[in-house]
Amino acid sequence: MSVRDASEQSAMEKVENFVKGRYQPGKSESEFRVYDAHAKPGVAEFYRLNHENQTLDYVLRKEEQYFGLKRGKKTVWEAADYLNTLVDDSDPDTDLSQLEHLLQTAEAIRRDGHPRWMILVGFLHDLGKCLCLYGEPQWGVVGDTFPVGCAWSEKVVFPEFFAKNPDARAPHYQTKWGIYDPGCGLENVHMSFGHDGYIAEVVKKHLRDEALYMLRFHSFYAWHKHGAYEHLQNDKDRAMLPWVQKFSSYDLYSKGHTKPNVAELKPFYDELFAEFLPEKLDW
Ligand SMILES: [Fe+2]
Ligand SMILES: [Fe+2]
Repeated sequence: MSVRDASEQSAMEKVENFVKGRYQPGKSESEFRVYDAHAKPGVAEFYRLNHENQTLDYVLRKEEQYFGLKRGKKTVWEAADYLNTLVDDSDPDTDLSQLEHLLQTAEAIRRDGHPRWMILVGFLHDLGKCLCLYGEPQWGVVGDTFPVGCAWSEKVVFPEFFAKNPDARAPHYQTKWGIYDPGCGLENVHMSFGHDGYIAEVVKKHLRDEALYMLRFHSFYAWHKHGAYEHLQNDKDRAMLPWVQKFSSYDLYSKGHTKPNVAELKPFYDELFAEFLPEKLDW
């Protein structure tokens, strides 16, 4: 099993901790900026690479490479075990494994009495991070996402790093709507490539729109947290937005101190997967 080296794995953890810190409840827009300015060098470097390399052309190539789902079949548990080989070098007693984060998110949703399909989203939402194990760079897997092929919003984290993206010199990508029509709907927009879009593709034949929006757009903070890209939204996006926001709070704040007991929870999740999904999914 391919496991990435420890220094690279902790880059992912650093970025995720940064995102969680950035979106603590009650922070104002100006506080986001102050927080970003104090980001650890590793985090800023991560977003520099992300913003410089996520061009429309790059995204189209990655969609072509992965959205055909030709990497074989796996059950949800197999996918989760596979993702769990992405281990971190930090203290194993205080940090959650990938599987534990998925279970904790799902369990928090379950505890609050939300529908079963939303509990399932909690479990599935980060499984697309297996892209790292396929050899994709971390900047192409995690972190905030944003539309490509049109002008970047100032509300995307570290907007200054877009200056060196080659699309900055393509005037037809730099208008407000770029290659899109006004109000075309976010489902028709190419998002920067990452784990969100990939997992949504894996399950899109099986889950309702609300679930797919939560999966596809959970890292699109500029939209669901800052209200940017309104000009690309359609009525469906506006109807789905509250669901994405509801999900986001569980993703960000469900970290607790008790580790979920996988063996104890397994029967519930076996039944949940069987209710909505075929035994094996195409990845
Ligand atoms: Fe995620
Ligand atoms: Fe997550």
